[in-house]
Amino acid sequence: MADDALPFDPTRGSAVALAQAQVAAILAIAADAIISLDESLCITLFNDGAAQIFGYSKEEILGQRLDLLIPERMRANHRHHVADFSASPVPSKKMGERQEIFARRKDGSEFPAEASIAKQVINGRRVYMVVLRDVTERRQAEVALAAANGALEARVADRTRALEAEIRRREETHAALIQAQRMEAFGQLTGGIAHDFNNLLTIITGNLELLGNEHSQLHQAAFLKRATDAAEMGAALTRRLLTFARRRHLMPQILDVNELILNLTEILQRSLGEPVSLTTVLAGSAWRIRADRSELENAILNLALNARDAMPAGGNLVIESRNVTAEQAGLSPDGEFVLISVSDTGDGMPPEVLERAFEPFFTTKEPGRGTGLGLSSVYGFAEQSGGHVTIDSAPGRGATINLYLPRAAEVSQDTGVVAEAVPLSENSEVVLVVEDNPDVRELTMQRVEGLGYVVREAENGRAAVAILKSGEAIDIVLSDIVMAGGLSGYELGRWVQANRPSIPVLLTTGYAAEEARPDAADFPILRKPYKRAELANALRDALAARAV
Ligand SMILES: Nc1ncnc2c1ncn2[C@@H]1O[C@H](COP(=O)(O)OP(=O)(O)OP(=O)(O)O)[C@@H](O)[C@H]1O
Ligand SMILES: [Mg+2]
Repeated sequence: MADDALPFDPTRGSAVALAQAQVAAILAIAADAIISLDESLCITLFNDGAAQIFGYSKEEILGQRLDLLIPERMRANHRHHVADFSASPVPSKKMGERQEIFARRKDGSEFPAEASIAKQVINGRRVYMVVLRDVTERRQAEVALAAANGALEARVADRTRALEAEIRRREETHAALIQAQRMEAFGQLTGGIAHDFNNLLTIITGNLELLGNEHSQLHQAAFLKRATDAAEMGAALTRRLLTFARRRHLMPQILDVNELILNLTEILQRSLGEPVSLTTVLAGSAWRIRADRSELENAILNLALNARDAMPAGGNLVIESRNVTAEQAGLSPDGEFVLISVSDTGDGMPPEVLERAFEPFFTTKEPGRGTGLGLSSVYGFAEQSGGHVTIDSAPGRGATINLYLPRAAEVSQDTGVVAEAVPLSENSEVVLVVEDNPDVRELTMQRVEGLGYVVREAENGRAAVAILKSGEAIDIVLSDIVMAGGLSGYELGRWVQANRPSIPVLLTTGYAAEEARPDAADFPILRKPYKRAELANALRDALAARAV
């Protein structure tokens, strides 16, 4: 048994003996190090726990200075603390709870520890008792826990950010979808109206043309002129509606945007007036685009006029061209665009105007000053051209309209010059006019006759087939595409190709969408409303194709 573990002798029976026995037991079983020091800080007691923790045997350590158990780098500081403690009135103190302390093993390694120290005066001499616990494992666990907590917090933060981004993305997609659906609905509606309107205009202009040929007394001529002008205005309006509805028949060609903008500046300068100063900032080497020239000019003109209206007291108008990728433009999927942006220093748009600016007929201008078709036709043109348009504006901050048009795939120069001569029929060929609208049919027949042809009529596809079957001599079929009565122009055309292959078929339509159908490639198509010369050329070309 160790010297310091005094056996309990029941024969002595005194309280002192009992206390000694208890202390001895505590010293023997404690896992903590229990160390006693004399006044000069030499070790006078070192329990089994201490031997275990520090790696010294009692024989080695008893009588040695406490310094042996303290890392060298901390000794000075430690002495200082002990001096402070011994001078203070406090009888005991805990160390290492708040501030880490380190102890040193026999092999020189260090470990984190918590210790308490108490002082007593026995027989006039100071005695210190130290209880020390190795907290290596606890510290490691704390460090691991802190790291795990940190990682968890970081993951939660990451996930929160990702969720927020996802919510924002969904909200944006949803808003864009609703906007696209709204514009699509407007497009459908407008397209339908414009199509009917177009048919009416075909009748009006055609009849006026006939009247003009036959009655040219002066007073009648004046009435005719007025009516013709009104019909032309109607036609211009329908063109804008059709542009919005993306049903315009576009004639795309390879364009140099910079050249087009420079050509426009003179007319722009004139229509903008003195107080507006116009600046162009053109891309060094703008890519070519493929777009309808006059529609693009119209779009830029519309944007410039809007800018002028937004700057009644004058300001700056900047037209800029720039090459951008789909990514830079915030568009998907990828691709390359030429950006034409038109910026002004005007009033800008409040959110409720911004939201509706592309809607057809939406205007904040006084009645008679705006039709509300400017931006909607720019929108329709951009979309139909495979591009896109965005507005960047806030009240008092001016407005920038960005028009993105796709870069042209291949560079080849289109020339769109059409001869204006009116070729008349040379051999009085027989034209079978197929049209379900009696007014349009009547008009068409008169116009065809006026070109020197002989005319036969059919009120729909079935009637036409019946006439062709009857063996009547027909040289060419001129048919509307969309007809009531069960057989479309395409179907009639197919029947003719199969059963009367020598007879050419010429189709007409007011619907650009009809021309985009796969069957469309098989037949020449004449767009309504058409001029007399266009009709004459189309008939002549179709007949000439037959002869080859
Ligand atoms: N540059 C701009 N600055 C401020 N507001 C604008 C600008 N461009 C358009 N707007 C707003 O958008 C509305 C719709 O413009 P849009 O061009 O479609 O029609 P409009 O100019 O009113 O009429 P229209 O062009 O048919 O003569 C305008 O009435 C105006 O409120
Ligand atoms: Mg406008």
